[in-house]
Amino acid sequence: MRILGIESSCDETAAAVLEGDGRAFAILANVVHGQLDIHADFGGVVPELASRAHIRNIGPVVATALAQARVSEGSLDGIAVTVGPGLVGALLVGVAMARGMAMALGRPLLAIHHMEGHLMSPFLAGVTDFAFPFVALLVSGGHTLLVHALDFARYQVLGQTRDDSVGEAFDKGARMLGLTYPGGPAIAQLALHGNPHAFAFPRAMLDRTRHDFSYSGLKTALRTFLEREGAGEVGSIRQQDIAASFQEALIEPLVIKSLAACRTVGAQRLVVAGGVGANQRLRERLTQAAEVAGVRVLFPPVGLCTDNGAMIACAGLRRLAAGARGDTHLNARPRWSLAELMA
Ligand code: KG4
Ligand code: ZN
Repeated sequence: MRILGIESSCDETAAAVLEGDGRAFAILANVVHGQLDIHADFGGVVPELASRAHIRNIGPVVATALAQARVSEGSLDGIAVTVGPGLVGALLVGVAMARGMAMALGRPLLAIHHMEGHLMSPFLAGVTDFAFPFVALLVSGGHTLLVHALDFARYQVLGQTRDDSVGEAFDKGARMLGLTYPGGPAIAQLALHGNPHAFAFPRAMLDRTRHDFSYSGLKTALRTFLEREGAGEVGSIRQQDIAASFQEALIEPLVIKSLAACRTVGAQRLVVAGGVGANQRLRERLTQAAEVAGVRVLFPPVGLCTDNGAMIACAGLRRLAAGARGDTHLNARPRWSLAELMA
């Protein structure tokens, strides 16, 4: 089977063509058009600008994906599209495109939950011996989530953030330090030569048995610290130490809680997806801790961890293979929890 996947829930316009039988997959094309240049000056994604950019880019992105895959529209067996969660105006662009194509071609149209897409990343990464069940740590600008993936379409949310996502905390912290957006890579770069133990920033909810996160207290702690003690010159040793210490406080709960979640459900596999999964310090600390705990940790390539159409196509193909008929009249669902998907 061959399927087109469309993703436009946030600031990436993406389309991919995937071929497979529902178990093994081959990515024929995976085109992602980002909007960093549009949002950088604002220090975050501006929804209205995102929607307008999606409108400009969706046609060319889908056309490029089909051309790169060297397939015609008519050879598609289905179309999968992210319907939520995400920015409503952004989602509507992908949904309209997918609906139009599905109607014109007379093919099934599958509504995909964005987070189910992320959960597919290990199966796209070319790791042939990877299987359910596993725990996934999904960390991006929009979400901080621990999920127990028991099987396809059987997901249990173990924990999530009570306030800011970890990516958001990276971005807001970077802004306070006068760094550019996106803040994650900027802080990581500055932290490279800093001392992660120079300053003691708070780690929230480490003592809790639940697997939830909270990052708003840490954000406030950084603001208070900078007001009281100053940030130091840009690029100074002091600023490097602040960045490294702040980064450590962001990462430590992710490491501790991911492994605690594995212990709770008895999982021996852990997958990390989302933009923050690119963080080198997180990778090092998680790899070390997982080794001690006897857990195998998988970091799919960054291009498959961040928003893309291949993960949406993958979830769509699995649903199609499982007998889903699709719905040509589907609509955007900006607020749609993973728990509701299971209900
Ligand atoms: O998954 P993603 O690309 O887009 C969303 O769906 O949000 O994640 C973007 C987030 C941003 O907050 C960015 O600062 C963060 O991922 N990020 C990083 C790194 N690279 C990107 N955070 C920490 N370290 C990095 N190297
Ligand atoms: Zn995402």
